Amino acid sequence: MIAGIGAVAALGGVASSGAFASTASAAAPPAPRDPRVEALLRRMTIAEKIGQLQLVRDPDVAKSFLAKGSLGGVFNIVGAAALNDLQRIAVEQTRLGIPLIFGLDIIHGYTTNVSIPLAQGASFDPTVTEDGAATAAGEARRSGIHWTYAPMMDVSHEPRWGRIAEGNGEDPYLVSRFAVAATRGFQGDDIAAPDRLAACAKHYVAYGQPEGGRDYNTADLSIQRLHNLYLPPFKAAVEAGVATVMVSFNALNGEPGHANSYTLRDVLKGRYGFDGFVVSDSRAIGELIVHGLVADGAGAATAGLTAGVDMEMTTTNYTTYGEQLLAQHKITRAQLDDAVRRILLIKFRLGLFEHPYADASGEVTAPTAPTRAVARRLAGRCMVLLKNDGVLPLATSVGTIAVIGPLGQATYDLNGTWTGRGTGSATTPPVTVVDGIKAASSATVTFTKGCDVNGADTSGLAAAQDAARAADVAVLVLGESADMSGEAAARSVIDLPGVQQQLVAAIKDTGTPFVVVLVNGRPLTIPYLHDNAPAVLEAWAPGLEGGHAVADVLFGTVNPGGKLPVTFPRAVGQVPIYYNHDNTGRPGDPNVHNTSKYLDLPIGPLYEFGYGLSYTTFRISGLRLSSTRLRRHGTLRVTVEVANTGSRDGDEVVQLYLHDPVASLVQPVRRLRGFERVTLRAGESRDVAFTLTTDDVGFYDNEAEFRVEPGTVEVYVGTSSAATLTASFEVV
Ligand code: BGC
Repeated sequence: MIAGIGAVAALGGVASSGAFASTASAAAPPAPRDPRVEALLRRMTIAEKIGQLQLVRDPDVAKSFLAKGSLGGVFNIVGAAALNDLQRIAVEQTRLGIPLIFGLDIIHGYTTNVSIPLAQGASFDPTVTEDGAATAAGEARRSGIHWTYAPMMDVSHEPRWGRIAEGNGEDPYLVSRFAVAATRGFQGDDIAAPDRLAACAKHYVAYGQPEGGRDYNTADLSIQRLHNLYLPPFKAAVEAGVATVMVSFNALNGEPGHANSYTLRDVLKGRYGFDGFVVSDSRAIGELIVHGLVADGAGAATAGLTAGVDMEMTTTNYTTYGEQLLAQHKITRAQLDDAVRRILLIKFRLGLFEHPYADASGEVTAPTAPTRAVARRLAGRCMVLLKNDGVLPLATSVGTIAVIGPLGQATYDLNGTWTGRGTGSATTPPVTVVDGIKAASSATVTFTKGCDVNGADTSGLAAAQDAARAADVAVLVLGESADMSGEAAARSVIDLPGVQQQLVAAIKDTGTPFVVVLVNGRPLTIPYLHDNAPAVLEAWAPGLEGGHAVADVLFGTVNPGGKLPVTFPRAVGQVPIYYNHDNTGRPGDPNVHNTSKYLDLPIGPLYEFGYGLSYTTFRISGLRLSSTRLRRHGTLRVTVEVANTGSRDGDEVVQLYLHDPVASLVQPVRRLRGFERVTLRAGESRDVAFTLTTDDVGFYDNEAEFRVEPGTVEVYVGTSSAATLTASFEVV
C-alpha cells in the first residue's frame, strides 16, 4: 500500500496507552458484577478473600489452607475420590463453603491422548482440535476436574524450544483458528455442562520467543511484533469466551509477565475486555524475586496483584503478605475484590456451587472404543508426507516388513509431552507402530531396534541391516523420545538425535527400499533424510492410537493431507527462520553479492510452512477476485478451482496469503489469511472461496494501533507458503 498516507481506519479495539511501561493505575475496567458473586463477596472476610487467590498442588498444603478457612483451588491431582475428599472439607468444613476449583494439565487428552498440539496444527483442520478437546473435556470433567491448563497458544519461531510441541506452530492466524477451536471444544456453550471444562489460554505472552530457544528465557519485542504475531491468538480466545488466562514465565521487554500491567491490565482486561481470571504459572510469583524485579515475597505479591494476576499458583506470597500489604496500602481493596470477583465468577459459571462433587461412578480411567476412534482419525489427519519417491503407500500384500528403529516399539513416547491423567499404571499405553502394522497387513513383521534414541552405541546397526536384507521393505521409526520436547526440554542441535542418522545410512546400504516415520515434538533438521530416504512421513507424537494411525497412512487407508505448521530449517544456524518474515532491503539472492543469505547454505528452509504431499496430485487454478477494490467495512471474495488430478481420493489444504508491498511499516513477505482443507475424489474438482475484509489487510503499528492503509495488496493462493498463483486488489 502507499506509505505516508497514514491510517484510514483504526480498527481492532480502543487505542492503548502505547507506552510499554507498567502502570499501577492501568485502566482495565473492573470485573463484571454478578449478583451471586456480590452477595457472597459481602459476606467474606479479608482472609477468606485472600484465600481464594491461592492455588496449590499438595493435598496436605490444601488441607492446611482449608483449616484456616479458605483456598481457591488445587491442581494436578487426579482421581474422583481424592478430589471429593478435599472438596468435602471446603464445602462442609469452611465457614462459607466455597467450593474448590480443580485444575489439571490436559494438553492433548486425559486418558485418550491424541496427537500433540503441534501435530494438530499440521491438520489445518480446526475441527480436529475441537473434537480432541471435547473428548478430553468429557473424560476429565466426569472424573472431577473442572479446569484445564490448555490451550497453549504461544506462536513460536523457535524449534530449539521444547514447548513448540505444545502450540500450533509459527503463524498467528493459524494458531488463532486453533485457539478458538480448542476453547470451543473444552468449554462448549456452557462450562457447567457435565462434559465440559473451563479452558485456560496460555502462556500470556511471547513465551514462544525465548532467546536462544532456552525455556523461560527473555523475549524482547517491538510493540508491533507483539500485537501482530504473539497476541492475536489470545485476542481470539478471549473473543471465543475463554474462562481463564495463564501468565508466561518470561520477561518481556524487561518486565516479567507476572508484573506486566501493560499486557495484563491494559491489553487483556482492558482492550480485550477479558472478564475471567488470570492465574500465575507455577511458582512464577515467587520467581519475581529471582528475576530481580523485587527483593522479597511482599514485593512479589504487590507486583503480581498490581499487574493483574488474580490467582497465585504453588507459591504463597499473596496469602502470606496480602493482609499486611492491604494495611500498608501497597495493594488496594478494589484490587483484591476484583481478583476475588473474577475467581468466584468462574466458579459460579462452572456450576461448582450446585455440583461441587464428582460422581465417582462416572469416573473415566481408560479410553473407550469411541475415544480411540477419535484419536486414530485425528492422528491420521495430522500426519505430513514430506517426501515420497513412490515407495508409499505400501501394498498390504507385501511379504515381509522390517520395522527398525528406537521408536518402532515405543509406547508412551508416542504420547509426546504431557499425558493428562498420567502414564504407567495410571493410563493405557499407546499402540506401537509394530502392532499397528501387524494389525493392518498380513505381512510377516519383524522388529529390530538398531540403536537408542540418544547415545553413541552403534553395535545394533549390523542386526538392523540383516533385518532389512531379509525384508521386502523396511519401516524406520525414528525421532525423539517424549522427554525431548515439552517444558525445559530445549535442544541446541535439532538433528535426529544419537546415531539414528547412521542407522538410516546403514539401511540405505542394504538396498532394501525403506520409509522413515518420524516421531518428534519439534521441527528437525533432516536434509540427510530428504536426500537419502525414499519416503519420509512426519507422524509427530501421534498419541494413543499412534501405531494404527501410522499404519493407516503407510498402507494408504488414509491419504496424508497434513501440512507443516512450522518451517523446517536446513540447519539450526538458520533459526529463527519462518515464512512470514519481513522484507529486507536486500532480499537473499544466491547470484547477487551482498544480499541477505548464508555462504554455506542455500536460501530458504528445507520444507516451508504449509508444505506437505499426498498420494494423489492437485492443481489449483482460475484465481479470481469478486472486485478489484476492497472498501472499508466491505468484503472481497477470492475464488480458486482445486482439482484432484491423480488417481486416488485425497485432501488438499488450499491456502491464501497476502502481501502488502508498500506500507508505513515493513510488512511480512507473506501472511496467511485463509485456509480450507478439502477432500476430493480422484478426478473431482471444486471451487474454494475466501472472504477478505479490511481486518485481513491491516496491521498493528508501534503504538498498538490497527492500521488499514490504502493501496495495492497482493494475493497468493496455493498449496504452501510458496504459492505462486497471484492477483492483486486495491484497498480504498
Ligand atoms: C507450566 C504450565 C503448567 C503448570 C502447571 C508450569 O510449569 O509452564 O504450562 O500449566 O506448570 O502444571
